[in-house]
Amino acid sequence: MSFLSDTLSRVKPSPTIAVTTKAQELRAAGRDVIGLGAGEPDFDTPENIREAGKRAIDEGKTRYTAPDGIIELKQAICDKLKRDNGLNYSPKQVSVGTGGKQILYNALMATLNPGDEVIIPAPYWVSYPDMVLLAGGEPVTVEAGIETDFKMTAAQLEAAITPKTKWLIFNSPSNPTGAAYSWDELKALTDVLMRHPQVWVMTDDMYEHLVFDDFMFCTPAEVEPGLYDRTLTCNGVSKAYAMTGWRIGYAAGPETLIAAMRKIQSQSTSNPCSVSQWAAVEALNGTQEFIAANNATFVRRRNMVVDMLNAAPGISCPKPEGAFYVYPSIKDCIGKTTPAGTMIPDDETFATALLEETGVAVVFGAAFGVSPNFRVSYATSDDALKEACTRIQQFCQGLK
Ligand SMILES: Cc1ncc(COP(=O)(O)O)c(C=O)c1O
Repeated sequence: MSFLSDTLSRVKPSPTIAVTTKAQELRAAGRDVIGLGAGEPDFDTPENIREAGKRAIDEGKTRYTAPDGIIELKQAICDKLKRDNGLNYSPKQVSVGTGGKQILYNALMATLNPGDEVIIPAPYWVSYPDMVLLAGGEPVTVEAGIETDFKMTAAQLEAAITPKTKWLIFNSPSNPTGAAYSWDELKALTDVLMRHPQVWVMTDDMYEHLVFDDFMFCTPAEVEPGLYDRTLTCNGVSKAYAMTGWRIGYAAGPETLIAAMRKIQSQSTSNPCSVSQWAAVEALNGTQEFIAANNATFVRRRNMVVDMLNAAPGISCPKPEGAFYVYPSIKDCIGKTTPAGTMIPDDETFATALLEETGVAVVFGAAFGVSPNFRVSYATSDDALKEACTRIQQFCQGLK
């Protein structure tokens, strides 16, 4: 009998963390490695937010809080949801957790029973399927490939729904592709959901503010108000406010679900960090000006990376609407051999050879459920990106 739980045996370790570890090992061995695996902005947390955190410490706001957040932050979240998304929520319908990750996990733990199915469009953020498995449910992945710009169609959603479907996890803009659904594309999906009243929507709006070229972000309960009573709108301050280390995420939804999530949090991690909550109040209520400035940087980098990758033989890279990732296809590299003599049967081998032979760390597509691709995070300096893309071009030119 194993000492470890049976549930744990269903789950795999995070492949993105594995890539980071491998890159660190090579760096420690003296290799010149450029990491394009990071899932976080390379900007500092804006000053007004840092100051709010320092003030909270000096004012002694350093004790336990209500398990799912201080009222000031819940109110700031309600104001944000009204302002940005046209959604009406009261603080009782809001839960604050230790990062967006904990919020999603709490919601799955609070709702899934053995056999319950959760639809996850692929490519997906690596944690969704494993969180569903940890919570005892069954992930049902729906592959949305490069032909549909990595977006699930209404017909695909309709075909994936069964009487056991409990949730659709929806993520736009997406990690790992950067693809974002327009109002009409999302309406086609919500029309399907209106025909299946047993299916709830967990929308992960983490990259809401990272959209480019006048793209208009939209979220399911805004596009289809008829879904309000079965939508959990999840978001956080990690990406838009460069606050990944502060660990604040939140969700708004029906009060009974929020109460169930609170119960889980109160018996596991208790409240998210008090100081971070006060910083998050400032993030949501304070100036939003730096978002546009940061986005201008991201657009410049995205355009450079997309152009340089498309110039590499065998790589085809769509230009996505948002986030800070691109997800190029390497279909035409499969079956070729690298300069060091490695045959490439799949994207994992491609990424490993790229790292070992050129020192560029990317995450292979199989980790996100759609292959053969790889994910590039362009949340790093222009110089590093240019050098990395040049090395990728040379690597591809050397494939025989
Ligand atoms: C799509 C998506 N959702 C949620 C998260 C988790 O965010 P947090 O750092 O707030 O837990 C991430 C982080 O990478 C993400 O990419």
